Amino acid sequence: MDYKNLITTQEGPILTVTINREKKLNALNKETLNEISAVASMAEGDKSIHCVIITGAGDKAFVAGADISEFAHFSVDQGAALSRDGHVTVFDKIESSKTPWIAAVNGFALGGGLELAMACHIRVASDNAKVGLPEVSLGVIPGYGGTQRLSQLAGKGKAMELMLTAGMLGADEALQWGIVNHVTTQEDLLPMANKIAGIIARNSSVAIGIAIEAANAAYRGTKDGFEQEIESFGECFGTEDFKEGTTAFLEKRKPAFPGK
Ligand code: COA
Repeated sequence: MDYKNLITTQEGPILTVTINREKKLNALNKETLNEISAVASMAEGDKSIHCVIITGAGDKAFVAGADISEFAHFSVDQGAALSRDGHVTVFDKIESSKTPWIAAVNGFALGGGLELAMACHIRVASDNAKVGLPEVSLGVIPGYGGTQRLSQLAGKGKAMELMLTAGMLGADEALQWGIVNHVTTQEDLLPMANKIAGIIARNSSVAIGIAIEAANAAYRGTKDGFEQEIESFGECFGTEDFKEGTTAFLEKRKPAFPGK
């Protein structure tokens, strides 16, 4: 499929999605969000894709936030709808995707940009990355999950500080705060993301999806996380991947997971 604001390339089981609005620092306008939503649905339904990497075009920004020009005139109802729609169609969809997403943060990840990275399952940053939730400097708050997911990654105290000061952290601080998993050079960013994706892709895609579902359960409050784990653990025993994985181990060979 062709997208106006995204470039997608698939190499083997890894789909790379590049947000391509470099002149606007890859800010998330409605059209781009719709396209990311479409990619997320497509990746979830395509068994040949085992991992998605998302990054921004150019060397300055991952995503500099939601596109401010699109909502500056919104009413209360329109603001709430914007947030709800984003949660459902993009940010929650990525977080609950059974296909893992890796954010390759190649510069500014501000507001909706950091929220997008935080909705992903793993974050790798280049050493020029700058992350923050500057929304209160605009008279608004993070509306794509930032008030919740930043606390989950960095702890409430640090999340409060970053959000209330509307400040920015450099890559090393973001690493120290637990917001990103790794920091590397700009040149090594995509190779490192691809290396992690490649390792993930060797494992059972079915078990990975079930593990994501179980790990996410704790954060939604809709179900006890331990109870979800028990059910999810049991579910694995009914899969062909489980039979193949355990048989291959006992036969001292590498598994060839059917993905079922
Ligand atoms: N929404 C819409 N447009 C944005 C944007 C956003 N979130 N972030 C950057 N842009 C646009 C700028 O308006 C500018 O467009 P123009 O060239 O047509 O004027 C272009 O991207 C380049 O940005 P610019 O501000 O000139 O770059 P800079 O290097 O001086 O500053 C930032 C970089 C990231 C510090 C600055 O762009 C910024 O503060 N952006 C907004 C961050 C933010 O508040 N995000 C949360 C939104 S809720």
